[in-house]
Amino acid sequence: MKGLILSGGKGSRLYPLTYTSAKQLVPVANKPVLFRVIEAVRDAGITDIGIVVGIDDNARQVREAVGRGNRWGVKVTFIPQEAPLGLAHAVKISRDFLGDDRFVMFLGDNVIQGGISELISQFAHSNWNSQIVLTRVERPEQYGVAVLGEDGSVVRLIEKPKDPPSDLALVGIYMFDHHIFEAVNAIKPSWRGELEITDAIQWLVDHGYSVHPYIHRGWWIDTGRPDDMLNANDKVLEELKHEIRGFVDKESRVSDNVTIEEGAEVINSVIRGPTIIGEKTRIVNSYVGPFTSIYHHCVIENSEIEHCIVLEHSVIEDIPARIADSLIGRYVELRRSPYKPKAYKLTLGDHSKVGIL
Ligand code: G1P
Repeated sequence: MKGLILSGGKGSRLYPLTYTSAKQLVPVANKPVLFRVIEAVRDAGITDIGIVVGIDDNARQVREAVGRGNRWGVKVTFIPQEAPLGLAHAVKISRDFLGDDRFVMFLGDNVIQGGISELISQFAHSNWNSQIVLTRVERPEQYGVAVLGEDGSVVRLIEKPKDPPSDLALVGIYMFDHHIFEAVNAIKPSWRGELEITDAIQWLVDHGYSVHPYIHRGWWIDTGRPDDMLNANDKVLEELKHEIRGFVDKESRVSDNVTIEEGAEVINSVIRGPTIIGEKTRIVNSYVGPFTSIYHHCVIENSEIEHCIVLEHSVIEDIPARIADSLIGRYVELRRSPYKPKAYKLTLGDHSKVGIL
């Protein structure tokens, strides 16, 4: 089997972070979401992986970050998509790479509990034309939704229905054989101008091909918005095998479920897990609370921070109130401003969001 990972899109719901970085490269528990997807595909035994990217600067970053895939022992082929014309369009342009092989398509911004090994082996040993992954969600209108018949078979699939006929959402993981190419060539763009994979799967159902539904019962997060990123970070941190690889001085207190990466230093601070502190990051006279990921080369000094994701090279110093529930980008400087006039002094990018006391 082959793997097809989709890593295009503007990530507009994560502005301003995604003005300068692909959303798939935003780290969850200090590892880009896309790397977690590649690992899940590799762990399912698939080593031939196509990654669909746009043609913008974000695509260049993804290509640079992933390289040829040697780090994971896989072979990566990049497939450029001229414009975000839909998931079915991504399949269409990947025809040469996929050939007639069975494949799994995995959206590069999805995080799922438990990996996909079981799913892949089930599909690889079946004669189904497709397998889709479904999970119960609270707001089905935000997703593709499936209706199952009394015998459990897939009857109908609708993309983002206003009035959802069920609460079973399509998770961004799909398995197909080569019949999907007939489907993606037959369907027409939706109201949002995209070739929808949901419509292509409906085409398979309508033309008598077997589409097997798999109901996923663990957690699954589509990391579109800041809250989703924090939520995914919580879940992954909770399941991480934690270890201390950096330096912790005698004055500090660090709980069991904390990872301190190589070259990091914790000085006179309290760190409560689940939390991860990145390489060469310094935590000095500070409190880092549960569900926090501080990435590489950061400084947190004389401050308190909890339930946050902080990206690389950021500095937080002398902040008088606790920082919580925040997503902080790269090279951010957050400092007390002691000089007069006494005021908030901000340099914020477009679409920044600040909550002040
Ligand atoms: C896409 C699919 C949708 C699916 C979702 C899962 O939505 O079109 O059917 O439920 O991914 O993440 P989009 O992210 O394009 O809005």
